[in-house]
Amino acid sequence: MRCLINYKSVEKPLPFEDLTVEIGFGSGDFLIKLAKEDPKGRFLGFELSGVAIEKLLRRVKREGLENIFCTRLDAYWGFYLLLKDSSVRKIYMNYPDPWFKKRDIKRRLTKRENLYLFHRKLKEGGTIEIRTDHYPFLEFTLEEASSLGGFSSYLEELDTSQPLTKYEKRWLSMGKKIYRLRLVKRGKTLIIPELRKIKEVKDLFPHKVEKREPDLLALEGREYRLSERVHLKFFSSYEGKGKKLIEALLSEEGFVQKFFVEVRKKGNYWIIDISPHSQVFRTENLRKVLELVAKEGFKP
Ligand SMILES: C[S@@+](CC[C@H](N)C(=O)[O-])C[C@H]1O[C@@H](n2cnc3c(N)ncnc32)[C@H](O)[C@@H]1O
Repeated sequence: MRCLINYKSVEKPLPFEDLTVEIGFGSGDFLIKLAKEDPKGRFLGFELSGVAIEKLLRRVKREGLENIFCTRLDAYWGFYLLLKDSSVRKIYMNYPDPWFKKRDIKRRLTKRENLYLFHRKLKEGGTIEIRTDHYPFLEFTLEEASSLGGFSSYLEELDTSQPLTKYEKRWLSMGKKIYRLRLVKRGKTLIIPELRKIKEVKDLFPHKVEKREPDLLALEGREYRLSERVHLKFFSSYEGKGKKLIEALLSEEGFVQKFFVEVRKKGNYWIIDISPHSQVFRTENLRKVLELVAKEGFKP
């Protein structure tokens, strides 16, 4: 398997057992260090930043590492879509974004829903290890973990006797406090019935429209609620020879994709499909988007 995993096309779940995962690996230093120290282990990083991914790929290639993988995906969806239950031995989060503002707290990586999913993917005795210098984030995480259950927690303050990064050394010398929290999976959690879900499908089934002319202009700027927590918005449309395109944004339970829908002339009918230039993660709701364009994107 190549270092960069294309979650849109890879077979799921990944065939990994006894995996170590880093969420938000940033510069990649930590993940690379882990991978070098344990050549037989497997290491997977989730990142949102394309720059961080590119940087890691360059370093992995340069250093010839074969036990390190990454994908550009929000960690929740990464765990949800790609990993087998009870297959992870360790999850690291180093200085995760603490989302300071009250209204943004629901974005924190250690909210209950995420911890529930991480717990499911961890092996018994597996650990989530978090380093942070933000005490309110730490308190939040401890509260979420204790209300969920299924974890034993261990908290310590880092000091200069431990192996530290250059930033950590600098922070400690400036008098900053750094905390290391370990959440160890022990037994079961409470059940959270409503995890956010998306469903992958094999085919999108392009639509065919006969005897009518497309009118994608009419869709520009329109918004649709396809179901609870599934929203679609259309943007600009474009015209080429024998085809028309419209840009769309689909948000499914917070999983967001931007892509073009293409309406292509073939003989005496039109084919409605996702543009071959938009690589998408095929979901049930994308089928609904094509259906909707076939219904509403044509002159009566
Ligand atoms: C504050 S930086 C810390 C980077 C690195 N761990 C370090 O210690 O220097 C947080 C990183 O997490 C990534 N990130 C934030 N939310 C994420 C999520 N939901 N899934 C994956 N990565 C995420 C960001 O792109 C960013 O690179």
